[in-house]
Order: sequence, then C-alpha cells, then structure tokens
Amino acid sequence: MITEEQVRASLREVIVPEVERSVVDLNLVRDVSLTDGKVNIKLGNAALSPQLQDYIRAGVSAAMKKQKVSDFTLEFVDVKPAELNEIRYVIAVMSGKGGVGKSVVTSLLAIALRRKGNQVGIIDADITGSSIPRMFGIKNRPLGSETGILPVATGTGISVMSMNLLIAQEESAVIWRAPLLSRAINQFWTDVLWGKLDYLLIDLPPGTADAPLTVMQSIPLTGVIIVSTPQGLVEMVVKKAVNMAQKMEKTILGVVENMSYFYVPEVDRRYELFGRSKGKAMAKAAGAPLLAMLPVDRELARLCDDGELEKYDKPVVESLGESFLKALDRAGVKGQ
Ligand SMILES: Nc1ncnc2c1ncn2[C@@H]1O[C@H](COP(=O)(O)OP(=O)(O)O)[C@@H](O)[C@H]1O
Ligand SMILES: [Mg+2]
Repeated sequence: MITEEQVRASLREVIVPEVERSVVDLNLVRDVSLTDGKVNIKLGNAALSPQLQDYIRAGVSAAMKKQKVSDFTLEFVDVKPAELNEIRYVIAVMSGKGGVGKSVVTSLLAIALRRKGNQVGIIDADITGSSIPRMFGIKNRPLGSETGILPVATGTGISVMSMNLLIAQEESAVIWRAPLLSRAINQFWTDVLWGKLDYLLIDLPPGTADAPLTVMQSIPLTGVIIVSTPQGLVEMVVKKAVNMAQKMEKTILGVVENMSYFYVPEVDRRYELFGRSKGKAMAKAAGAPLLAMLPVDRELARLCDDGELEKYDKPVVESLGESFLKALDRAGVKGQ
C-alpha cells in the first residue's frame, strides 16, 4: 500500500503551468492522509482559477494512477497566498540613481543562485522602469484568480512578478503616484503565490526617496545590496543608502560596482572608461564587502536586449553568487 510520503513525493510531478513549479514547491499541499486505503489530498486554493484547478486535478489523477492508487479524493481549501509563502531570504537591490545596472545585477544574482539549484524569485518593484521581463524574454500574462496571482517562470525556472507582465503592452508607460506604486508593490508581496523560495530578490525603484523606503518598510527584508558605477558620487550614494538601511534596521550585505572597466582581450588590458574604480571606497563607506566588479560587456548588453540573459555564462556570474553567499554567511543574518 502507498504511504503518505510516497503520495507527497508523487505530487512533485504535478506541475502548475506558466510558473512551471510543482504543487509541492508552491506549498499548495495542505494535507495528505490515508483512511482505509483511500488517499485524501487537500490543496490550497490560492490564485487558482477554476480552469487551473481542473488542470491540477487532472495532474493529480495522473500521478495517482502512476502509483496505482485508484481511490483518492482531492479537495481545494481556500487560503491566501501570503499564508502559503515561505521565503528564506528576501534581498532588496538598490541604487542611488537609475541606469547603473540595478536590474542587470538583480537578474545576474538570481541566475547565479538558480544555477546552484535554489528556488529563486524576483519582484520587479521598479514599476515605472520595469525591465526584468524584457531581460529574460518573458511575455506570458500571469495566471490568477480573485485570490491572487501566480508568477511567470523564466527559461531556467526563476519566478518573476512584474507590472510589465500585467499591463497589456510592454511599452505602455506607467505613470503612477507614489501611494499607488507602493500599493502595487505590496501586492506583489501579499497577493502573489511564491510558495517555498530560497531567495526572493527585489529590484527596487532607483534612489533613496520615499517610494523605495515605504516599500522596504512593508516587506520583511533580510538585507540590502547596493549597486553603483564609477561615475556615481560614491560618497553621497553610499551615505544615503546606509542611512536608509539604518532607518529600517536592515543589513547592507554588500556592494556591486557595475561598468567598472572594459576589457580588451587583444592587448589583455582593462580600461577604466568611467574613471577610477570606486568599488573599494564604496565598500568601505558601507561597511560591507565588495561583491563584484562587473565589466562593461557588449555581450551582456546584447543578451539583455534579446531577452536571453540566462545564456550569459562568464565567470563573473558564478563569482557574484559565491561572494553573495559568503556575505550572507558573514553578516550572520538569519533566514526565515
Ligand atoms: N555591465 C554592463 N555591460 C554592458 N551593458 C550594461 C551593463 N550593465 C548594464 N548595461 C546595459 O544598461 C542597461 C540598463 O541597465 P539596467 O540594469 O536596466 O539599469 P537600472 O536597472 O539601474 O536602471 C541594460 O539594458 C544593459 O543593456
Ligand atoms: Mg532597472
């Protein structure tokens, strides 16, 4: 006879479309019990439309059949996404100004963590300058119901939620007032079914004004990563960021300098296009490690434009991931 563990294991084969994760990873499995040889399964009904419930029911049926279970019941119980979300580390990526590569850094870190086999999500909270879906080439509209919405998977299975996925045309400008923006981002936290995640990265709006601050206050962050470029007024950017992190009692986990240099392999030389690197000074001012110095790279820019960032496989990606994990460890911040 089948055991409860075997039932749970076989539910891993029931994949929810578009988010491309199993009902187990989405933390939808509320209860599994066996009575008189009959299998009873309870799944949470959060963000699932009636069609999607039917689809999942068919998936469960197929999984049970494979296990030679002929008698089973499947019940959907109403829950809110927030009750199902179990996220270990929530990391916000911030910058003093736009265009420094905040979204690129968020995405590359997500890619690095995913390559290590983690469950990873991204909240694109830079709603007015939303670019995460473009970099990953995702265009699907998220599935959902009155109770919530599901993220959309990238090619390698990173879960993404972005305003760009919800509005009809990617080019439509989103001109919203600050309170509305904060509300939308809060909903990305409370009403999106993330399920079980190891890391949720938040691409914040640029700057250190009220909008990112409000957002950061309402989401329980583990820590913050600061992105800057050599052109940046390092002192000012870092001071403001440190201030902000202190106000919120958040740890600055590290800093990333983007567009540090341009490497010319023919002469094996690095050119500091935007002036001397300020990475070390930045790290010192923030009292946090320098996680990476990313070069200006045409291939990187092209992959962003083509929505194929996940194909980027230069060693900087892995080393960004490694130094981030080390920084987490060093900071001693506890996951949830
Ligand atoms: N290291 C880099 N090398 C080449 N191009 C880059 C690099 N970093 C960013 N870019 C380019 O700059 C654009 C803006 O980057 P993005 O991450 O969207 O900035 P931000 O989120 O800070 O506004 C990207 O679309 C990409 O084409
Ligand atoms: Mg951006």
